[in-house]
Amino acid sequence: MNIILLGPPGAGKGTQAKGLMSRHGIAQISTGDMLRAEVAAGSEIGLRAKEIMGKGGLVSDDILVAMIGARIQKADCANGFILDGFPRTVPQAEALDAMLEAQGSAIDAVIELRVNDAVLIERIAGRFSCAKCGASYNDHTHLPKVADTCDLCGNHEFIRRPDDKREVVTARLDAYNRQTAPLLPYYEARDRLRVVDGLAEIDEVADMIEAAFETLPKRAHTHALTQS
Ligand code: AP5
Repeated sequence: MNIILLGPPGAGKGTQAKGLMSRHGIAQISTGDMLRAEVAAGSEIGLRAKEIMGKGGLVSDDILVAMIGARIQKADCANGFILDGFPRTVPQAEALDAMLEAQGSAIDAVIELRVNDAVLIERIAGRFSCAKCGASYNDHTHLPKVADTCDLCGNHEFIRRPDDKREVVTARLDAYNRQTAPLLPYYEARDRLRVVDGLAEIDEVADMIEAAFETLPKRAHTHALTQS
């Protein structure tokens, strides 16, 4: 199954993608994580992306389409994938459709996680993660069991994303509303879109996503061409 999670910053795309990955045994593809890895590596793409991400804008479509085109060819996508953060513009969605069609594949489900701006800003302001293993925490909803100690690896250092500063979050929300929200009618017109209440508890959101899948028209199963 090929799934897209759509929603503004802080809607819970990454949180739900991890659950979907373990429930369905399919790959999670986060373009935000891929770009942050490029920034950390100091690659040419990373150098171009760093400034744009720091201001809350969108990195160019050609970079993202090339990254995803290579990523969905990998062996771990043979049974499907969850896209978390891609597509973010109509040209990205059109390019994705064309790439999948060329493989005899298609998108099965697009889930919009709907959350209001006040909650998004509070969630993002509270978010932090373990500097060593990346485990995710939140000041408001999910603190480590022992203060300043990662539940998973015992590390004592935590980090906050530079683009989670309030002024950058406002720019990210604006980019979502202007450039990404037009994807909602795009997928609705193709009968792929289902809306889920992202304000519910994390487990409830997961249940609603699974229920939403059942309401979507099934696509004839095809095998994607993959390489390792
Ligand atoms: P990206 O990393 O994709 O960031 P984002 O879309 O802004 O999303 P977030 O990671 O902030 O939020 P999320 O929806 O995953 O929420 P999460 O699960 O963490 O992109 C970063 C940047 O990269 C972009 O700004 C852009 O510059 C660039 N970029 C990436 N892709 C691109 C593309 N395709 N094209 C161009 N540029 C691109 O949850 C947030 C918090 O809320 C967590 O603390 C979590 O624990 C908590 N939480 C989650 N669900 C719930 C719940 N139901 N109840 C209570 N708390 C919850």
